[in-house]
Amino acid sequence: MIWYIRLKEFTVKKILLLLASTTAMTLASTGVALLEKKCASCHMLETPEFHQIPTLKAPAMDAVVFHINLAMKEEKKKKDFIVDYVFNPDISKSVCESNKVAKYGVMPSQKGNVKKEELVLIATEMLAQYPHPKFVVMIKEMLTNDKMKALQTSPFLVNKEGLPHMTKLLIQNWDKAGLGLSKEQKEKLLVVRKETLQAVKYIKKQLNPLEDEIVEAMIDREDPKSIEKTLEKIATLKMEASRVHLKCIAQTTAILTEEQVGFLLPFWE
Ligand code: HEC
Repeated sequence: MIWYIRLKEFTVKKILLLLASTTAMTLASTGVALLEKKCASCHMLETPEFHQIPTLKAPAMDAVVFHINLAMKEEKKKKDFIVDYVFNPDISKSVCESNKVAKYGVMPSQKGNVKKEELVLIATEMLAQYPHPKFVVMIKEMLTNDKMKALQTSPFLVNKEGLPHMTKLLIQNWDKAGLGLSKEQKEKLLVVRKETLQAVKYIKKQLNPLEDEIVEAMIDREDPKSIEKTLEKIATLKMEASRVHLKCIAQTTAILTEEQVGFLLPFWE
């Protein structure tokens, strides 16, 4: 009799286990199917090739989850964010860069197109699958390229670690609720931005012909001593540009609170 009960126990356990694993499997496959059905008409689900990015109607799912992961840590928060955003999209909640939202337009609410229970499955699936490692490599490379380009055209002296471009970071996150800029802060920040951009532009305009002069002199095999004065002028202008840059960082951080600076920093990398 005992062996019979044991066997029964064993069988029940096995069946329960089997059931549990097939339920998990069914849920996951339902998540995949729902993603395809409800989201894929706009969000590309595979990792986009580099050349496909400009033709997309909405950020690829890889990019969406990449940005969610940058903005929040807890799994529960991420899931809640997705569920809320799909029903009530709003630029002030967006975790993608604001220039992306400007490019695609705010996502239309999917109320009526997807049920809340379905959305929970979708969100679980999104966070489990994305971003694909291939995408992370690509986006990191793109970001490094952007940084390199910025460094090449940068007139600043101190830029090895890529000091934050405060005004650019701010404009990208301008209307986000998480940043919470007050009207007064915005007014002050716009003044700093305007002064900084004007000053940098003026310096660059003077720098360009001087740098061309040096390049030409070298091509013409002139004596480096003959361009000593030009070099000095370039150095002075770059020093001035660096002053403007550092002043901009100091003025901007003085207007922002500690929390706001903390909010912006993840977007800098
Ligand atoms: C009609 C097109 C369309 C459909 C369908 C759609 N989206 Fe979007 N979605 C967009 C666009 C455009 C954006 C970028 C603008 C934005 O962030 O609002 C976006 C952005 C997002 C974001 C990022 C929010 C942010 O800016 O931080 C999430 C999350 C998201 N979608 C989830 C989903 C999910 C999940 C589905 C399927 C249930 C879905 N979307 C279906 C168009 C769509």
